[in-house]
Amino acid sequence: MNYRHQYHAGNFADVMKHVLLRQLLVALQRKEKGFLYLDTHAGRGGYDLAQAAAGETLARVPEWPEGIGRLLDGAAELPAPLADYVAAVREFDRGAGNLEPALRFYPGSPWIARRLARLQDRLVLCERQPAEAAALRAEFAAAGGVAVQETDGYAAVRALLPPPERRALVLIDPPFEAQDEFAAIAGALRDGLRRLPGGVFAVWYPLTGRARTDAFFERLRELAPPPTLAAELTIAGEDSPVKLKGCGLVVINPPWQFDREAGPVLAELARRLAQAPGGAARIDWLVPER
Ligand SMILES: C[S@@+](CC[C@H](N)C(=O)[O-])C[C@H]1O[C@@H](n2cnc3c(N)ncnc32)[C@H](O)[C@@H]1O
Repeated sequence: MNYRHQYHAGNFADVMKHVLLRQLLVALQRKEKGFLYLDTHAGRGGYDLAQAAAGETLARVPEWPEGIGRLLDGAAELPAPLADYVAAVREFDRGAGNLEPALRFYPGSPWIARRLARLQDRLVLCERQPAEAAALRAEFAAAGGVAVQETDGYAAVRALLPPPERRALVLIDPPFEAQDEFAAIAGALRDGLRRLPGGVFAVWYPLTGRARTDAFFERLRELAPPPTLAAELTIAGEDSPVKLKGCGLVVINPPWQFDREAGPVLAELARRLAQAPGGAARIDWLVPER
């Protein structure tokens, strides 16, 4: 397994995922009762964007300028959820010690969640790669309400659900290096839903071919899950040479009106992040609300 999220931190896919993650967390916090945030594939927590452009990664073009970089450019005109996200990224950057105007440090999903967490919310962050897990542990050494586990995130879904709070948001964000990743996701969801039928499960996936995505949706429907939607952002049309043409987030048990809140935000992201003709946003119910 060679995947290191460092190369991708702050790219368009991270922006989409982290903006929607914030919207999910804020929606869950409309209720006073605390919940478990389980990040099954947490990464290292925070990323130094300067490293993505230097040293060992010299051969790779940094991806963040086409992601968070594009939002920083026109930050003054952003709608509220995007402006709040950019403000949170800026706060993280300054908190990590950057005194320059140019962005340097970017928060991963663990920090996105931790900065929104209330006292009654609890975070469990799982990462299987030992070096990444060690960095993650160091990131959160002084943070209360956070447990870091060097473990398989799919096993954690089985081990940690149902939580004592009886409420959970589970983010499943794998690297998709393994051939059977979609099968592993479906297996974890089947067991997770059995243990916590009302849990909110969010799964990030790459748009690398409609047939592959449709086969994934079919697997999900076979689980007979509760209401489920798929939010997708496309940044380049099918004919474009851009490799990763978009990404999506499947949300099982989305909070009330999440589709209405996420729709305009995704559309704005499609306008700002498109890299080739064909940029678009859509939200489809795979299993409609009853
Ligand atoms: C896409 S990155 C995570 C990014 C992070 N969620 C974020 O948004 O900042 C995927 C991570 O999953 C880790 N990983 C791969 N397989 C795993 C598994 N079975 N369980 C836990 N972590 C795994 C990889 O080492 C990598 O750090």
